[in-house]
Amino acid sequence: MRKAKMKGIILAGGTATRLFPLTHTTSKQLLPVYDKQMIFYPLNTLVKAGIKEILIIIAPRDAGQFLNLLGPIFDRHEVRLEFKVQSAPRGLAEAFILGENFIDSDNVTMILGDNIFEDDFSDVIKNFKSGGYVFAKKVPDPERYGVVKFDESGKAVQIVEKPKDWISDFAIPGLYVFDNRVISAAKESRPSDRGEIEITDLMNFYLEKGELQVSQVKGDWLDAGTFDTLLEASQIVKEKNISKNFDPQVQEAILEFNEEQKALAKKQLQ
Ligand code: DAU
Repeated sequence: MRKAKMKGIILAGGTATRLFPLTHTTSKQLLPVYDKQMIFYPLNTLVKAGIKEILIIIAPRDAGQFLNLLGPIFDRHEVRLEFKVQSAPRGLAEAFILGENFIDSDNVTMILGDNIFEDDFSDVIKNFKSGGYVFAKKVPDPERYGVVKFDESGKAVQIVEKPKDWISDFAIPGLYVFDNRVISAAKESRPSDRGEIEITDLMNFYLEKGELQVSQVKGDWLDAGTFDTLLEASQIVKEKNISKNFDPQVQEAILEFNEEQKALAKKQLQ
């Protein structure tokens, strides 16, 4: 049997009503974060960790814009992008159902299209064998997130999506590493009270089996889904040079794309 590869998914659909009127005309993940569209940050996180095959899940309205930006961008590089439309935002866990053929018999790392990380996940992703691996970050407002509770020995014991009653200050950022069983776990999960199939159900699938690892994220992590965090993301990216320290392949691809577009624009003026 061949060794399972690690594939990547960027979940970049949804309606982003919290960012209206900005997202009335374009996708949240195409909004600018300092000098690049938001999608490039999670894309870079995956490529930097050595992932070469990436599925980008997008909303129907925004499909054309994503293709215009990302369609040919890696043509001359090793990275291969695929796109899939999610017809309605039915929950984060649906990504693994939509991605079934793409994932095939491999493992998968999913990153949310509005999550920006300073940390480098290469070690975890390259050494991943089986089970599930997610991260934790202490936050002042855990009720906004999926949350993990640890026991005295530091072992994860409970995971809840947006808990109404406090259980822990540790949020679970939007980067999830799972083995191939995640596809069947997602297919078996049922919508929650808010009508979504929840990523926390998939984490609990592994937690209950004693096969979920959780470690803390280093450095800044932002969920750029509100006006304030969107602004903060631009400031942090600028201050910490995050977009200047992108993986060389991503840097080069963006640079080449910019040059091509400039040349095209010049030609049209002639
Ligand atoms: O940012 C981390 C948090 O992200 C986690 O701690 C939570 O456990 C997780 O549920 C998620 O919470 P959010 O409230 O931020 O989820 P949101 O609905 O904003 O969706 C996250 C991203 O996924 C966003 O870029 C839109 C996209 N999305 C969302 C849904 C529900 C899709 O593409 N399709 C969907 O069906």
